[in-house]
Amino acid sequence: MKVLIIGGGGFVGQKLARALAERGTLRGTAIEKLVLADINNPAPFDSTVPLDTVRCDIADPASVAEVIDAETDVIYLLAAIVSAHAEEDLDAGLNINMMGAFNVLQRCRELGTKPVLVFTSSIAVFGGEVPDPITDASYLNPQTSYGTQKAVGELLLNDYSRRGLVDGRGLRLPTISVRPGKPNRAASSFMSSIFREPLNGAEAVCPVDREFPHYYLSPRKCVENLIKAAELDGEALGQNRCMTMPGRTWTIGQMIDAMTAVAGPEPAGLIRWEDQPEIKRIVSGWRFDIHADKALALGLSADESFEDNIRYYIEDDRPGS
Ligand SMILES: NC(=O)c1ccc[n+]([C@@H]2O[C@H](COP(=O)([O-])OP(=O)(O)OC[C@H]3O[C@@H](n4cnc5c(N)ncnc54)[C@H](O)[C@@H]3O)[C@@H](O)[C@H]2O)c1
Repeated sequence: MKVLIIGGGGFVGQKLARALAERGTLRGTAIEKLVLADINNPAPFDSTVPLDTVRCDIADPASVAEVIDAETDVIYLLAAIVSAHAEEDLDAGLNINMMGAFNVLQRCRELGTKPVLVFTSSIAVFGGEVPDPITDASYLNPQTSYGTQKAVGELLLNDYSRRGLVDGRGLRLPTISVRPGKPNRAASSFMSSIFREPLNGAEAVCPVDREFPHYYLSPRKCVENLIKAAELDGEALGQNRCMTMPGRTWTIGQMIDAMTAVAGPEPAGLIRWEDQPEIKRIVSGWRFDIHADKALALGLSADESFEDNIRYYIEDDRPGS
């Protein structure tokens, strides 16, 4: 089987690629080729599964056609620009997040091979006056351009699946934390940096207060769920191929306490509290009373506690780990 990860150079894409290479199988079949495609050349790694890395711009249909061929059995569409970037630059968000998804779907339609297509949406598709709790039956009412572009992707994924052009699965990811590396342009970037930087011995700024709640998942669980999502029987998904990936809601204060329980009191002392109105405006519109019943029933799962998220960062990603 040939598996393609578009966005394979990114945070989730790299972790997913390593996990797939390590397990060597997907949907009960050996992975004979793993291809990582990204606008920034993806980092290759030692793998027993044959691995290719290619440049691809999903905003360009010709570039998409070069990476998706008739042999591609499973496609992960992870490539996107993140929330604050899409809010700043409407054209880039439309071209990459919305038209990128369309270009991938159209390429699948052209080939007629009905690949499994796993699409990463976001809980940013929910917002506004939709009543709590947010369930899989809540209507999509995004309050950002990023959320809107992801919602369009979800609708197209459903329609192309209904028409038998792809075997789609859309997962609305919670905020994945702790994210390694440098801060990115996601409005939620601080939700990793207030743990990552202090755990690395550096200062970090928190733009919201201790009571701020949010819906999270660790990178390890996210990857595990993305693999399960590809393995689900398409028929089991019903008429809506999209669902929320299980996560857990914690307040900033609870998560800092979890960091202290795992790593001692020093990291929490490195957090500087500073109001950032633009970030606060975006993230305060995000929902946190979220139930992922459909995904849970299908066997996907969340972390037991935020202490797990902290431990995974220390074990998997902290420099020198
Ligand atoms: N990480 C999170 O907390 C989170 C939360 C909700 C949803 N998501 C979604 O999950 C997916 C993966 O997120 P991530 O954290 O790994 O993001 P990331 O930014 O680390 O990775 C995205 C990748 O897409 C690539 N990309 C951007 N524009 C491209 C283009 N035109 N053509 C091809 N590649 C392009 C980037 O180079 C990058 O490597 C994204 O779709 C994101 O919207 C992530």
